[in-house]
Amino acid sequence: MRPQPDFIHEFVPGISERTLLLLHGTGGNERDLIPLGRELDPNAALISPRGKILENGMPRFFRRLAEGVFDLEDLKKRTNELADFIASAAKHYKLTADQIVAVGYSNGANIAAAMLLLRPEILHAAILFRAMVPLVPDNLPDLSSVRVWIGAGDQDPIVPASEPQRLAKLFRDADADVTIRFANASHGLTDAEVKTARHVSCRGSCQLPLQI
Ligand code: MLT
Repeated sequence: MRPQPDFIHEFVPGISERTLLLLHGTGGNERDLIPLGRELDPNAALISPRGKILENGMPRFFRRLAEGVFDLEDLKKRTNELADFIASAAKHYKLTADQIVAVGYSNGANIAAAMLLLRPEILHAAILFRAMVPLVPDNLPDLSSVRVWIGAGDQDPIVPASEPQRLAKLFRDADADVTIRFANASHGLTDAEVKTARHVSCRGSCQLPLQI
């Protein structure tokens, strides 16, 4: 039986215990971040779901009312649905449940951040490119065993600098170990910051200095 609730997804087996959960941006799909995942960690398993919301034909992970204005009820519902999928996929694919690292870009980074805040048991670490504060929970979770790396662009017209800074503070208030980096970049990723993030994602089985 497939993982339930199901998502269209790609799964690429790995040779280490780590799994990267790849979460695409608006208009992306389950194939988009596979090359990024492999670059970040050549040994990890990769699981990459496609967001179920369609905005003018573009897949997303949750509804928004306008650019940067999120439908919070839908965001909570979709975050729980995605978290349930990951828990079920971990059993289905025999993944090590406490070695799941989210790698999200833009809309995908925002739902990864929401998952850390609402379903903290799912993720061990997160690499969040171009993330915003998706929501502020009523009660902060205990993220003292979670490492978060936030990659922002200092010329990003979609995500103002205050957003990743607020997000870093929110995670620090929840006791997470947070690193925030501003790249000389717009909303798109640069090779240099992907190289930096590689050091973060790749612990144990990669040949790079590792931090998570
Ligand atoms: C996007 O275009 O995906 C936004 O920047 C982020 C979002 O809507 O979640």
